[in-house]
Amino acid sequence: MTDRILIIDFGSQVTQLIARRVRESGVYSEIHPFNKVTKKSILDYDPKGIILSGGPASVTDIDTPRAPDELFDMDLPVFGICYGQQTMVEQLGGKVAGSEEKEFGRAMVDVTDDCELFHGVWDVGNKEQVWMSHGDRVEALPDGFRIVGTSENAPYAAIANDEKKFYAVQFHPEVVHTPHGAQLLENFTHRVAGCGGDWTMAAFKEQEIAKVREQVGKGRVICGLSGGVDSSVVAVLLHEAIGDQLTCVFVDTGMMRMNEADEVVSLFRDHYNIPLVHRNAADLFLGKLEGVSDPEKKRKIIGSTFIDVFEEEANKIGGADFLAQGTLYPDVIESVSFHGGPSVIIKSHHNVGGLPERMNMDLVEPLRELFKDEVRELGRELGLPDAFVGRHPFPGPGLAIRLPGGITPEKIDILQRADAVYLEEIRNAGLYDEIWQAFAVLLPVQTVGVMGDARTYDYVLALRAVTSTDGMTADFYPFEMEFLGRVTNRIINEVRGINRVVYDTTSKPPGTIEWE
Ligand code: XMP
Repeated sequence: MTDRILIIDFGSQVTQLIARRVRESGVYSEIHPFNKVTKKSILDYDPKGIILSGGPASVTDIDTPRAPDELFDMDLPVFGICYGQQTMVEQLGGKVAGSEEKEFGRAMVDVTDDCELFHGVWDVGNKEQVWMSHGDRVEALPDGFRIVGTSENAPYAAIANDEKKFYAVQFHPEVVHTPHGAQLLENFTHRVAGCGGDWTMAAFKEQEIAKVREQVGKGRVICGLSGGVDSSVVAVLLHEAIGDQLTCVFVDTGMMRMNEADEVVSLFRDHYNIPLVHRNAADLFLGKLEGVSDPEKKRKIIGSTFIDVFEEEANKIGGADFLAQGTLYPDVIESVSFHGGPSVIIKSHHNVGGLPERMNMDLVEPLRELFKDEVRELGRELGLPDAFVGRHPFPGPGLAIRLPGGITPEKIDILQRADAVYLEEIRNAGLYDEIWQAFAVLLPVQTVGVMGDARTYDYVLALRAVTSTDGMTADFYPFEMEFLGRVTNRIINEVRGINRVVYDTTSKPPGTIEWE
């Protein structure tokens, strides 16, 4: 087994980034919520070191989260970050107090003493930039600790107990605003905890192939292919692991991007030679969506129709023992909620939930431990073309949620053609890889225009482009005006039915990425 780090989550917004940074340095890591961690679970996971995340609580309040006390007696290196530092200090007998001065954003740390964390990165006497976000601060150290860094509002900005291999910082090394943060984390994982750094995608691929073979045995596996990166990577990985025991089913809703359905079929059937059932169900989906304009109704109709069609096709090929899914790590992490209560449903996401129970299938989810960018890396490792692996995410309900109001074949056609022009221009400008997602939305609004000498009364098209790292938050992409002008001209000249183009400058929140 490769060396691993355990990250105990106290609910910080950026805990996932700790896992990312640790994995980027070649060490496998998982995030476990503080309230699920016990001495036994730590022994079972068998980490070489533990990182305590930040969190929104204050250790000065009653009943706030703590790490299991035994953790500090297990002879394991521990690195506390922000709230993680505070709880560590408190639990080991030091003192934390609320502070009048809250520190948020960039701050400077004076490096006052040397320690293993700083090796090759920070030198004594230097001032180093970090990112802080805290109200409380440490005021007295537990036995065995010394100060190695201070800042204006955090006299104990970095502390060390070399003998026990306990380190803690008030700032966040996992965010990019702490420029040397990744190296500090790497010093902890490699130098302090002694991790080898041999967790690579090539190794992960081999390990997953072996796992899938063991799980599936001689069973049959069915995989829903959507054309997106995740399900494609699952399909190729499974094919490498179990060959013809895998059948892929591609339910074509008729609401994919232009030429996309053909591309998917030809890549998998012709190029990879993966058994693929292609069911063109456009008429069925369109029929059920006729006259429906409520976004949630659309999503529900598409979700349930998809499951019906998928099940029908699965039964035609004699059923399967397993259903393969592209579930990713962010969907699996149990994040800690301090507010309690279920979160509000903003949109019902389209997936094949419900199917495994109905058809009595077990799940195969080989991407459960990966972040999105790691999935892309795995895709490349499996030989998927770069252009395919780098594709923007595309939602399960497809163009249906980019056509506010009622859906007709005519509107789908207009949207597909406009979207293709937009994406072609983005590619030509070399911007495709900088953008998380770019797409067009055809509005159910007609406006008056003039073309040649004639009056037009056509649809409005909205263009959307955002940057994001995980789709949870997003910023609109700041195109040059000249670029927007060029795209607008081309669309109005080349796509009949549109006479006005607007650009969506809403970020998420308060907007969502898709319009429905
Ligand atoms: P929103 O619109 O919620 O989208 O900001 C966040 C990300 O999720 C994608 N998305 C979906 N993906 N099934 C999917 O597989 C869905 O039903 C779905 N709805 C939205 C969206 O494209 C963006 O990347």
